[in-house]
Amino acid sequence: MHTAVEKLIRPHYRTLQGYVSAGMESDKSAQKIFLNANENPYTLPGLDGFNRYPEPQPKALRDAYSALYGAPADNIIMTRGADEAIAVLTKLFCEPEKDAILICPPTFGMYKVNATTMPSNTISVPLLKQGGSYALDVAGMSARIDDAKLIFICSPNNPTGTSFAADDILNIIQQSEGRAMVVLDETYIEMAEADSFASILCNHPNLIILRTLSKSYAMAGMRMGSMLCGDADLAALIRTKGLDAYPLPVASIDAALHVTSPDILPIARANIATLIAARKTMEEALKQSDEVTHVYPSDANFLLVEMKRPDDFLKACAAQNIIIRDFSSKPDTPNCIRLSIGTEAQNQAVLNILANF
Ligand SMILES: Cc1ncc(COP(=O)(O)O)c(C=O)c1O
Repeated sequence: MHTAVEKLIRPHYRTLQGYVSAGMESDKSAQKIFLNANENPYTLPGLDGFNRYPEPQPKALRDAYSALYGAPADNIIMTRGADEAIAVLTKLFCEPEKDAILICPPTFGMYKVNATTMPSNTISVPLLKQGGSYALDVAGMSARIDDAKLIFICSPNNPTGTSFAADDILNIIQQSEGRAMVVLDETYIEMAEADSFASILCNHPNLIILRTLSKSYAMAGMRMGSMLCGDADLAALIRTKGLDAYPLPVASIDAALHVTSPDILPIARANIATLIAARKTMEEALKQSDEVTHVYPSDANFLLVEMKRPDDFLKACAAQNIIIRDFSSKPDTPNCIRLSIGTEAQNQAVLNILANF
């Protein structure tokens, strides 16, 4: 493992003996009689295959992700959603009561929640408001690198939708080498004009990219995420010491293989293009309303919208059974709501409420 990475991992993980599951020891593709995992041999009607524990990290799926994300299979770890990846990384790098993560609010709440459960500290370096959008405070982040084990950069960012300047992200990754790990959350990257950092992953041992099938590939219910590690040895360590014994359910593995197949991928990609077009249409339409004071430019499948009367608008939507996320009570997004992009009819229903508001 790269020494710069090794020294950042919590010390006991270097020597820890991970759990060796029956699934790790046996090749399920072989025609053998498996009596090693206390599984039930009698399958139930319509539930074939579910009596067996899943392969912990199936090679076929890792190869499919490798092709999808453009990263070497050895550098990929598959998790139950990007959420599990965040939890695993926090557990691996943050010593309770001692270490800290760095976040750039307003951003995804899960980073801080995981740090708090360790409990570890959370250092906040708020985003800078710049020309109606947001930017990373590179100077502010640089000043705190040595105080943090994990630096979370979410780009495109939830809830603002912002893609941060690639140069700024790279600057933080380069400065942090040997000092902190950078976790670049690319959960919404397929909706963005910006390119994924996966193409330069292997140049940066301290970089970990989070990806998911939840959003762009319409698989939120299957909980299929992944981490792409710049250091393949770190990926190997996480696979053997950082994950649950069987992190991926059988049905989720099958569904992910289906989504990444040549039959389905073009359909998913067409849907992504539809959502991007709809986001642009919604952004323009919302800007026309007197009730809307600002629509933040978004590279994701949602819009952060600042309104004159967010509470009343949310109530009017709820009365029509349309549920929108309220961010107005959060100090760093006053008067804002976050609206996911839906189907054409769903988006129109929101615009109709706004027009009659
Ligand atoms: C920025 C960000 N990261 C991670 C996640 C979690 O994604 P997953 O469904 O893969 O756990 C979300 C979900 O909303 C998110 O917005």
